[in-house]
Amino acid sequence: MTKRLFFFSTALFWALVASVTTSALLGTPDEAIAEGQDGKTRVISAAELAKHASIKDCWMAIRGSVYDLTAYLPQHPTRPEVIDVWCGKEATGAYNTKGAGRPHGKYTDQMLGMYQIGEFRKKP
Ligand code: HEM
Repeated sequence: MTKRLFFFSTALFWALVASVTTSALLGTPDEAIAEGQDGKTRVISAAELAKHASIKDCWMAIRGSVYDLTAYLPQHPTRPEVIDVWCGKEATGAYNTKGAGRPHGKYTDQMLGMYQIGEFRKKP
């Protein structure tokens, strides 16, 4: 009886070791990352971000999140070119400095949140 118990617990132990090792080696599947860790957040790659690089379809990655700014662009209080060039790109630096060493205001930071569509994943 003791021998059997020993055999089973040893077998169970090695089975667990094998499954942990296998999942560590295989890593998290890309589909799981794409859905986000919580199953709700959309994780957007640089390649996908780059597909939305026009004024008619403009996404930007800012401070780790991705924003769909298509609807906002016409309201931006500068010449369109100042902001348009950042469509499809990682634009944290541009947003933080307005391209001129001055940060956007707190109200603007809050407004930005309304356009968030996902998290940014740097690797393509
Ligand atoms: C990412 C590239 C961006 C650049 C280079 C940029 C640049 C600028 C510049 C030059 C101004 C003129 C204000 C001044 O003369 O101080 C400005 C103002 C403003 N921008 Fe942007 N902007 C960018 C993105 C955004 C985004 C994504 C939003 C909102 C969703 C936004 C909202 C505003 C607002 C509300 C103002 C006026 C109030 C403020 O300065 O906070 N901008 N921006």
